[in-house]
Parts: sequence; C-alpha cells; structure tokens
Amino acid sequence: MRPMASTAFDLKGKTVFVAGHRGMVGSALMRRLAREQADLLTVSRSEVDLRNQAAVNAWFAAKRPQAVFLAAAKVGGIVANNTLRAEFLYDNLAIATNVIQAAHANGCEKLMFFGSSCIYPRLAPQPLREDSMLTGPLESTNEPYAIAKIAGIKMAEAYRSQYGADFISVMPTNLYGPGDNYHPEYSHVVAALIRRFHEAKVSGAGSVVVWGTGTPRREFLYVDDLADACIHLMKTYSSPELVNIGTGEDITIADFALVVAAVVGYRGEISFDPSRPDGTPRKLLDVSRLAKLGWRATTSLEDGIALAYRAYLDEKQRCRQSRFARPEQNNYVARSEIDLAKSRAIKE
Ligand SMILES: NC(=O)c1ccc[n+]([C@@H]2O[C@H](COP(=O)([O-])OP(=O)(O)OC[C@H]3O[C@@H](n4cnc5c(N)ncnc54)[C@H](OP(=O)(O)O)[C@@H]3O)[C@@H](O)[C@H]2O)c1
Repeated sequence: MRPMASTAFDLKGKTVFVAGHRGMVGSALMRRLAREQADLLTVSRSEVDLRNQAAVNAWFAAKRPQAVFLAAAKVGGIVANNTLRAEFLYDNLAIATNVIQAAHANGCEKLMFFGSSCIYPRLAPQPLREDSMLTGPLESTNEPYAIAKIAGIKMAEAYRSQYGADFISVMPTNLYGPGDNYHPEYSHVVAALIRRFHEAKVSGAGSVVVWGTGTPRREFLYVDDLADACIHLMKTYSSPELVNIGTGEDITIADFALVVAAVVGYRGEISFDPSRPDGTPRKLLDVSRLAKLGWRATTSLEDGIALAYRAYLDEKQRCRQSRFARPEQNNYVARSEIDLAKSRAIKE
C-alpha cells in the first residue's frame, strides 16, 4: 500500500470554491468554512451548470480558485437512483470530469472529490474498507451513480499521479441534517422518515409504512460532523488513498425508525413494505484510517436527528412565510417540485 502522506494546507486567506454550496453537504461546508478565514467562492446552477464544460472552463479561468470542494452532484435515494439511471450517470460523470479538469488547468492547489459508500461492491466484507473498491459487482439499484463516482475518484487519482495535483477523495456514509431533500419518493431514508412521522403526528394517522423489510443495516452521519472531517482532511491529508467518513456504527432500519419516531414524537404503529427495495443488506464503513488521521464523529444519532428535525420544521416555517420566494431557493418545496417536474418530463 502506498504511504499516506500528511501535509499542512492552510485554508486561511485562500480562495475556496464550494461546488454545490446550496446542497446539504455544500451548505454544511459553508457553515464550517466560515471559521477558516478563507475567501469563499460559490456559483449557482443557473449561472454555471456544472455539466456544461465551456461554462465551467470559463468560470474557473475567471475565478482561479486555490482550493475546491467538489460537493455538487445528482444525489437521491434508492428510487431516484434506480429510476433516473441515465441522469445519475450522465450528470455525475459530467460534473466530475468538467470540474476536475478545469481545476487542474487553472492552477487549483487542492481539490476534494466526494464519492459515496455506494462505490463499494454489494457484497464486500463489512465494515467496508477503502481497498475494497473495484473488487466485485456493485449494488444494481445505484450502479450508474457508483460508476460515475468511481470515475471521479480515478480522475483525482490520475491527475495526482500524472501531474502531481493534490487532489483527494473522501467516501462519506449516509448523511442527514439541515438542507436534506424531503421529496416523498426521491429522498434518502432519514429525510423520508422525518417527513412521514411528522406528517402522521400532525394528521393523527395511526400507522406509518417504512419502505423495505426493515432488516438492512445502515450507518448515519450528521452532516456538520462530515463537514468538520472534510476540513480536517483538506488541511492535513494528501494521498491517492480514499478516506471513508462515518461513525463506524450501524443500526437496522427498523431500529432507526424507532429512534426517528421517538424524536419526532410519533406514537402510532410502524409497519414495513417489503415490496419496496431494501438495497444492499449492510453498509458500514471501516473508519480506522480516518481515526488514525485524528478525527472521529461527535454527534450522537439522537442529537443529530433532533437537530435535523428542528431544521426540517424551520424550513417548513420559512417556506410558509416566504410566499414570494423563488421556488428553487427552497429545499422543502422546491427540491420536490423540481424533481417532480423532472420525473414528469422523463415520463412524457
Ligand atoms: N447525502 C448523502 O447521504 C451523501 C452520502 C455520501 C456522499 N454524498 C456526496 O456528497 C455530495 C453532496 O451531496 P448532497 O447530499 O449535499 O446533495 P444535494 O443536497 O442534492 O446537493 C447537491 C448540490 O449539487 C448541485 N448540483 C447538482 N447538479 C448540478 C449541476 N448540474 N450544476 C450545478 N450544480 C449542481 C445542486 O444544486 P441545486 O442547489 O441547484 O440543486 C446542489 O447544490 C455528493 O457528491 C454526494 O455524492 C452524499
């Protein structure tokens, strides 16, 4: 195995581009980076669609960021991944190739690429070690997303080996927190459960259905913990080796549903719908490399879910109050509407 080099990379005074700054991860990075005295650069999708190579090249040539967090991506839960297979492959490949190449061509000193635990083979030994990438078949429901992410990781690695670029890749586990997507069909499990339990509590419904059998085991990380880990690695880590970011602990979906229901205050029945896909049976990251690099998660699941639920309620409130807000500025309503519009367009 190649050595894991450590270097000091000070963010203070640097121009730092957060790609995907309005997303769940990007906005957590923006919150955390506010403490680094960096000069933060962002650009909205309406100004620069990161799938558009010419637009990306022009923006990078004009701004020349010294550091890049590549947290823009087409992201979604199991149904979105499995339904919008072409979009998940195309968007994520295009974003990764355009941004990594433009960063290299415009003198970027350091780039962090965001992969995902989905890149590991479906039946890889658990907990998932970084070196299990490309050792077996992927989970079919998210294969297009995983293939695009693996291509991004390989690009970062190739630019490092060929040009000496200081590009690193991190593999976050399942994330949750402020800025999550609460789309009824396309969200990840945490947002989906917060929304369903909340709506059942408010409407007085006596039963909530959880997708799948409830038996798969998953690991969940609060997104502000992720952002803290990323800043730590950006400042101290330089190596082609991937770094998993997680808590190192997993829980069954059934037990997790009980935690979310308790935090939300839903007291009705919880049943399971086995006709919905379970996805991979277990997904727990081996976080020993991250621990050796000096970082571990600090937010408990209960505390994190309580913070995420608070953020969900705040966003609903903000949404009700801002009648004249542009819909794309609103995660709760607009991300649903945008995705619904897209899925309608796909069906037509
Ligand atoms: N969420 C998780 O559980 C999880 C787990 C592991 C890894 N990750 C990785 O973490 C990264 C961020 O995920 P996230 O959860 O923050 O996703 P997210 O909330 O959906 O945010 C994605 C961001 O990317 C932007 N984006 C997407 N397509 C774009 C395009 N064509 N041009 C410009 N911007 C575009 C979005 O812009 P708009 O605001 O305009 O939509 C949004 O700001 C991704 O690489 C993802 O693979 C996430």
